[in-house]
Amino acid sequence: MKASAPGKIILFGEHAVVYKRPALAVPVNQVKADVEVSESNQPGVQIHAPNIGLTSDLASLPPDHPIASVILKTIQALGVSPLPNLSLTIESTIPVAAGLGSGAAVSVALIRALSTFFSHPLIDGQINELAFEIEKFHHITPSGIDNTVITYNMPVYYMKEKPIETFKPGKPFTIVIGDTGIPAPTKESVGDVRRLWLRDQPRFEAIFDEVAQISTMARHFIVSGRPELLGELMDHNHEFLQQLTVSSPELDALVETARKAGAFGAKLSGGGRGGNMIALADPASAESVAGALMSAGAKRTIITEIN
Ligand code: MEV
Repeated sequence: MKASAPGKIILFGEHAVVYKRPALAVPVNQVKADVEVSESNQPGVQIHAPNIGLTSDLASLPPDHPIASVILKTIQALGVSPLPNLSLTIESTIPVAAGLGSGAAVSVALIRALSTFFSHPLIDGQINELAFEIEKFHHITPSGIDNTVITYNMPVYYMKEKPIETFKPGKPFTIVIGDTGIPAPTKESVGDVRRLWLRDQPRFEAIFDEVAQISTMARHFIVSGRPELLGELMDHNHEFLQQLTVSSPELDALVETARKAGAFGAKLSGGGRGGNMIALADPASAESVAGALMSAGAKRTIITEIN
């Protein structure tokens, strides 16, 4: 039984979304996590995850191990007992700790593959709930945006604790993603923002309100088929992310490079400090923006069309 899940990028509203403001995210199908589950003649549950150099029996991993915890929670939710001998292979092309949702994608693919294998296919709402449980287990205060966009594999306008809203662009647009190559766990930047917010709530609440307005306007421009107006909003959102202290010299340099290379606007995407930035580009100049990012030190680029 095989299942897969895409990567994701946040277009607008990261961090503010943790504080119940809206954010926009889209799936990135150029990268994905794949899981294969089969019966095995070796005892126990054998896990093979070559990307992270993991070959282990489930019983030898601590229960809070990122992969073991997904398997254990899924098995528990499905009510499978006793467990047959299984072999699980997890492969992912989504860079880890880069703001592309690698953890949530592995969770979603694992939940889907296991539930289908045990003839108990779960609907997206159930998969999403389970994946959110796992995100909470690891990140303490996740907004839930990563598991949602990855489970539904559709552009989402997301607000914590609100029903999921998907959106459809009135006109396709092109995003260039540039990876600083610097791993930056989301948990750390989210924790730092929380400490700043605790010290000066009025100031940070005001920033989150500004970001909320940007996300709301962005949805309007996307849905009404005026994506060229998103560039300026990206630039503004990046300034607010700088004020939240989650940018970095490397992210700022790539953002600046993209703008100079002709992008309409650019910002960091995801938790920040490292990981990825995104730029809005004309389809005709996307390749040259990507080339400029590589020359400025990006470790890789992805060009993706949002449609
Ligand atoms: C991470 O992809 C996005 C953040 O807003 C954290 C979250 O929403 O849980 C930084």
